[in-house]
Amino acid sequence: MNTTLNLLKPFKLGAYELPNRMVMAPLTRMRAKPGNIPQEMNQVYYTQRASAGLIISEATQISPQGLGYPNTPGIHSPEQIQGWKKVTQAVHENNGRIFLQLWHVGRISHPSLQPNGELPVAPSAIAPEGMANTFSGEQPFVTPRALETEEIPAIVEQYRQGAKNALEAGFDGVEIHSANGYLLDQFLHDGSNKRTDQYGGSIENRARFLMEVLEAVTSVWDADKVGVRLSPSSTFGTVFDSDTEALFNYVVSKLNPFNLAYLHIVEPRIQGNVTVEDDGNGLGASYFRSIYQGTIITAGGYTRETGEAVLEQDDADLVAYGRLFIANPDLPKRFALNAPLNEYDRSTFYGGDQRGYTDYPFLDDSKVLTTV
Ligand SMILES: Cc1cc2nc3c(=O)[nH]c(=O)nc-3n(C[C@H](O)[C@H](O)[C@H](O)COP(=O)(O)O)c2cc1C
Repeated sequence: MNTTLNLLKPFKLGAYELPNRMVMAPLTRMRAKPGNIPQEMNQVYYTQRASAGLIISEATQISPQGLGYPNTPGIHSPEQIQGWKKVTQAVHENNGRIFLQLWHVGRISHPSLQPNGELPVAPSAIAPEGMANTFSGEQPFVTPRALETEEIPAIVEQYRQGAKNALEAGFDGVEIHSANGYLLDQFLHDGSNKRTDQYGGSIENRARFLMEVLEAVTSVWDADKVGVRLSPSSTFGTVFDSDTEALFNYVVSKLNPFNLAYLHIVEPRIQGNVTVEDDGNGLGASYFRSIYQGTIITAGGYTRETGEAVLEQDDADLVAYGRLFIANPDLPKRFALNAPLNEYDRSTFYGGDQRGYTDYPFLDDSKVLTTV
């Protein structure tokens, strides 16, 4: 094995000794069973990828209201906790580590996915552009209902309960999803947050919800087992800000005193799940290096070579791979051997069965798990 790669060197992440610096990025795959419960093929999928230094689970809703896509898993019912328990056990038996990504989609939903067909909720009654992904195909987003000030503490409590449930389910930590235009990101940006209460207006007010969620989650988990994901340069989900730099300078500097496990930055060349033209003006991990004092994970379009380079330049500590991990369950081994990679098939990213999920071949086919 080629152990000279920085990507393959161990790293101390808070309480954990990671065997390498390759993180499996959070990846929504829409393959939970009815009730939004993780099932056996999900165990197989994560177990196949247990050689990642750290796995971050697919985004997982903290409440029925937090749901925005069919068949994404939750962490709010006993059955979901049991389903996840089997996933974490299987990953641990294969010497892996897995954090749960805590999620509330806010307005990126549709009444057909909401309890009692209600409107999705958001900081303000502003519809995002584009289409919702529903059980009956794509449907235009609706104008969401603005959350009442009094409703926000209950959502913070749902994050706390989600964090507790993740602990019970045997996860090694949690990541707060404050990226990609979902609820917390909707609150951060002044294009989607027009509130006049203590959760809107100034940057400090717009960041308040995220800070309250962080307080809640770190009351359950030691902070060195909690990460936060931000996508400062992304407009995915129709989030815009009049001063992105000031917004994220503030948010990132406010994270410092928490002494978190990590800050996870999505690079400017990524909009949600696709790579776009990068004009070079965005805010990526290298920008935040001087502002954030702890561990930084960078994500977005990395290859073996560019991932190695970002570590070499010390712009980040860990590199997350999304699409490459979808198609290459044994990605660290392939990088070690500089072996060819399987190509990913976008048509099987979201929903479906084992195809395009657990059937990507390992270098050594005898390692392919069909069950755990
Ligand atoms: C199929 C798919 C699902 C994704 N689901 C999530 C998700 O649940 N949570 C999240 O924060 N990002 C999600 N992303 C974004 C990835 O985590 C990552 O930031 C992005 O794919 C860029 O990394 P890559 O170029 O290595 O794939 C998803 C991306 C893809 C392709």
